Amino acid sequence: MVKQITKVVIPAAGLGTRFLPATKAQPKEMLPIVDKPSIQYVVEEAVAAGLHDILIITGRGKRSIEDHFDRSFELEYYLEEAEKTAELNQVKEIASLGNIHYLRQGAPLGLGHAVLASQAHISNEPFAVMLADDIMEHGSTLLQDMLRLYSKYGQSVLALMEVKPSEISNYGCVDVERMSETHYRIRGVVEKPAPNDAPSNLAIIGRYVFTPEIFTYLQLTRPGRNGEIQLTDAIGGLLEKQEIIGVTFSEMRFDIGNKNDYLRATIEMALSRPDLRQTVLDLLSSLSCGRALKEEARDSLPDPLP
Ligand code: UTP
Repeated sequence: MVKQITKVVIPAAGLGTRFLPATKAQPKEMLPIVDKPSIQYVVEEAVAAGLHDILIITGRGKRSIEDHFDRSFELEYYLEEAEKTAELNQVKEIASLGNIHYLRQGAPLGLGHAVLASQAHISNEPFAVMLADDIMEHGSTLLQDMLRLYSKYGQSVLALMEVKPSEISNYGCVDVERMSETHYRIRGVVEKPAPNDAPSNLAIIGRYVFTPEIFTYLQLTRPGRNGEIQLTDAIGGLLEKQEIIGVTFSEMRFDIGNKNDYLRATIEMALSRPDLRQTVLDLLSSLSCGRALKEEARDSLPDPLP
C-alpha cells in the first residue's frame, strides 16, 4: 500500500531574468494574470488536488509572496467597514488556502537545489513539486492524474508536453517507451538538448511527483549548466534505481516566466472567465490587429452579384 501524498513543494526562488525589468524588485510569481498573482493559481491547483501541506521555497526579494497568503487585518477592517463583502471574503479566503510554510533557498543555485532544500520538511515521504511559474488552465486534472498514477504504481511521475523541435533546448527532454496514448515509461532524461541531440519532442514541464529517494540523487548531483544544480540530473540518477512514469495532458499550460506565454495566459484566462469573456472578445476585435484581420476576411469575400 503506497503512502498518500499530502505535501507539495513550490520552488519560487528563481531570479526571473527573462522577465526583467518587471522582476527587478518584485517576484515574477506575484505578476498578476488578470487579477490574481500567478502563484495563487498554483496554490489553488494544489489544494484542489488535495495537497494541503504546501512548502514555498522563496529567496531574497520574495517577501510579498508571504504577505499575499497571510491575513491582512487592516485591509479586512477597511473592507468590513466599507461593506465590501465580496472583496472581504476573497481576501480572507486567500489566507485560508492550505497550510503554507516558507523556506529560504539562500542562494538561487538552481531548481534541484531548491527542491533539495525541502528535504527536512518532506522527510521520508513521497511528494509533489509544482513550479510557481507554470500555470495550468482552470480545472486542469493533470496533477490529480499524476497523483492517481503514483497511488497505482508507487513510482515517480513526470508531466510531459510535446514541443516544437526548435523549442526542446529550453526544457528537460525525455527518452521514452510508450505505455498507452498518454502514459510513457521514461528511459532517459537530458537537460536542454540541442534539437539534433533530443531523444524525443517530449519536454518535462513544471509538475512532478517524486518518491523520497530523489533526495539521495539531489545530494549527489554536482552543479551543471550555469553552475546550477539541475533537477533533471537527479531524475537521471533516480531512473537508474527506480522506474519513472511520464504522462501527457491536453489542457492549456503557460510558462509565465516567458513574455509570450504570459500574454497568452492573460488573454486565455480572461476568456475563460464568464464575467470577462465578452469584454475581452470586444476588446480583441477593437484592437488594430483585430480590425486588420476583419478587413482581410472581408476583402477575401467574393464580390457581391450585380
Ligand atoms: P526558471 O528556470 O524559470 O528560472 O526556474 P528563474 O530564475 O525563475 O527565471 P529566469 O530563467 O532567470 O527567467 C523554474 C522554477 O524554479 C524556481 C523558479 O522560481 C521557478 O519557479 N527556481 C529556480 C528556484 O526556486 N530556485 C532556483 O535557484 C532556480
